[in-house]
Amino acid sequence: MAEQYKTKILCIGAGYVGGPTMAVIAQKCPHIKVTVVDINEAKIAAWNSDNLPIYEPGLDEVVKEARGRNLFFSTDISKGIAEAGIIFVSVNTPTKQYGVGAGKASDLQYWEKTARQIVEASSENKIIVEKSTLPVRTAEAMERVLNANEKGLHFEVLSNPEFLAEGTAISDLHTPDRVLIGSMETESGRAARQELVDIFANWVPRERIITSNVWSAELSKLVANAFLAQRVSSINAISELCEKTFADVQEISRAIGADTRIGSKFLNASVGFGGSCFKKDVLNLVYIAESNGLNEVAEYWEWVIKMNDHQTNRFVRNIIRASFNTVAGKKISLLGFAFKKDTGDTRETPAFYVTKQLREEHAEITVSDPKALDNAKIDLKDLSGITFEIDPYKACANASAVAVLTEWDLYKTLDYERIYKSMMKPAMIFDGRNILDHQRLYEIGFNVYRIGKTPLLHSETALI
Ligand code: UDX
Ligand code: UDX
Repeated sequence: MAEQYKTKILCIGAGYVGGPTMAVIAQKCPHIKVTVVDINEAKIAAWNSDNLPIYEPGLDEVVKEARGRNLFFSTDISKGIAEAGIIFVSVNTPTKQYGVGAGKASDLQYWEKTARQIVEASSENKIIVEKSTLPVRTAEAMERVLNANEKGLHFEVLSNPEFLAEGTAISDLHTPDRVLIGSMETESGRAARQELVDIFANWVPRERIITSNVWSAELSKLVANAFLAQRVSSINAISELCEKTFADVQEISRAIGADTRIGSKFLNASVGFGGSCFKKDVLNLVYIAESNGLNEVAEYWEWVIKMNDHQTNRFVRNIIRASFNTVAGKKISLLGFAFKKDTGDTRETPAFYVTKQLREEHAEITVSDPKALDNAKIDLKDLSGITFEIDPYKACANASAVAVLTEWDLYKTLDYERIYKSMMKPAMIFDGRNILDHQRLYEIGFNVYRIGKTPLLHSETALI
């Protein structure tokens, strides 16, 4: 049956990136066989079930349409490698936790292991596509590992960084701002690049498919994330200033975002950015700059991370200060644990750091989230004094403070009068995402603390 396909694609790594990306390629290219493999058997079983391993709006429908037709999930990595002409590598590249570059550099052990696996299972030339975010010049290193084979095989390495954001992955994949494909500037490099361009051209307008040399493609991904993270840190820095000056950070975002040169996106002040990419990629950029002796460049970008940590830390300090300087024994309810709305992903979520610091102050924490409680339980398994409650009303009952940490739409429409009545008084609410109707909350009786705006306080019950 498989022989009916002229083009066969394999993706190694069935995570947040590999899974949705391949599902959309399969959906849009029914003439191509797409197989996704992973070392994690439970994950592959989940991809083959009705309960997919990740929550992503619209993903279920795409998978249902293509799975079993031309989209397959499997643990047989060697077979997948042997039959595919194009292999995407989307294994994780976490920040290195040991040795040289610890805390900053990418840990490339999975990537290198995968490269060796590819050589072993191959008996013909192949195109290898880097999908994982990697330090610049990794493609070159991988090309060496791959082409050092003694079978006389040639592997052409391309870089095709993924720009999808979680929570909007499917629409980002359906209508990307751009697709970036980098190759070696050799005849075989350009030919391989064209093959990949032709695949994306099945649904992406040609003018949105950008080609470049492989190093530019690799670095562009880090730079894009660094710029986005920098915008969040910049507006968060301004939010602290606003809290001291009676300016309103949302009014400022609106005013500056109307300038088309600045643009309106990524100007929401928040409890801090999270996710698997921003911190990792900025630290990676810092490490690359340092490795090249560019200390000012490294320091400049490092401040994006420092400012983000500062924003989360000061959010916690505000809770403690408003709680008459002690949260010990008090119940604090956290609404949202995912690093952003519409995902169950909790990697690097600011909610984790908020929870940890509040526990250090001996607060009793209840965590609520519509999609991320399973991950939250894993992340917080080493901490005591935490309960998990999916129902936000139950989560907030008897709390002295509620903190909104993820901008889930459902938190905008809760019955806050009911919540207020069930809480200890004075009842405090900390909106870490500025999504609630603050004036209304104040009228209900809450002391309302927000990001980048003066708090709304019933002065007789609050520390000013
Ligand atoms: C990953 C990288 O972390 C990121 O840097 C890159 O930009 C895209 O790929 P993500 O898909 O979010 O992002 O990671 P994750 O959800 O952890 O998925 C990686 C998958 O690779 C996991 O399912 C893991 O089991 C699998 N894997 C890892 C392998 O199949 N083989 C390995 O050797 C290592
Ligand atoms: C990011 C990039 O956007 C994407 O292109 C890349 O492929 C992977 O990394 P992701 O981490 O999934 O995507 O989500 P994103 O929407 O970028 O949000 C990152 C973090 O910044 C979240 O914690 C979000 O809440 C926060 N954020 C975002 C803000 O605090 N304010 C904003 O204005 C925007």
